[in-house]
Amino acid sequence: MERTFAMIKPDGVRRGLTPELLARIARKGYRVVGLKQMVISRQTAETHYSEHRERPFFGELVDFITGGPVVAMALEGNEAVAGWRAMMGATNPANAAPGTIRADFATTTGENVTHGSDSAESAERELGLFFAAGELLD
Ligand code: RTP
Ligand code: MG
Repeated sequence: MERTFAMIKPDGVRRGLTPELLARIARKGYRVVGLKQMVISRQTAETHYSEHRERPFFGELVDFITGGPVVAMALEGNEAVAGWRAMMGATNPANAAPGTIRADFATTTGENVTHGSDSAESAERELGLFFAAGELLD
């Protein structure tokens, strides 16, 4: 069993997509071991996306992700890191395979509805950034 960090970004929450996305997660069979709606601080956002610090879109990305409530989740399942990334689809929704979240619900790279950890190491780091140990199910 593997755990990953997943997030419904502010565009998804604002558009009322939370129930639909949770239904997809349930249908897939992932166990939701952590779940909270929250507004991300600027500092947390900059840490979360620190790999992109030097990229031209970094400021815009931090503004966007802190611009409204998100739903932070810890998902557990077999190969959950890769599996959740597959459910999300490509970063640019125009390149996302039909049936993926980004293909079905988004049109722009800047507002692409969900986040998912890109490796087991990222998952561990991001889960630690967003959840205290006692907040997650065993
Ligand atoms: P995420 O981290 O949010 O799950 O997305 P990702 O792995 O698919 O993509 P990543 O390369 O990590 O980029 C993080 C987020 O930054 C925004 N972005 N904008 N304007 C651009 O060229 C650009 N490139 C990336 C996207 O919102 C992307 O999800
Ligand atoms: Mg990423």
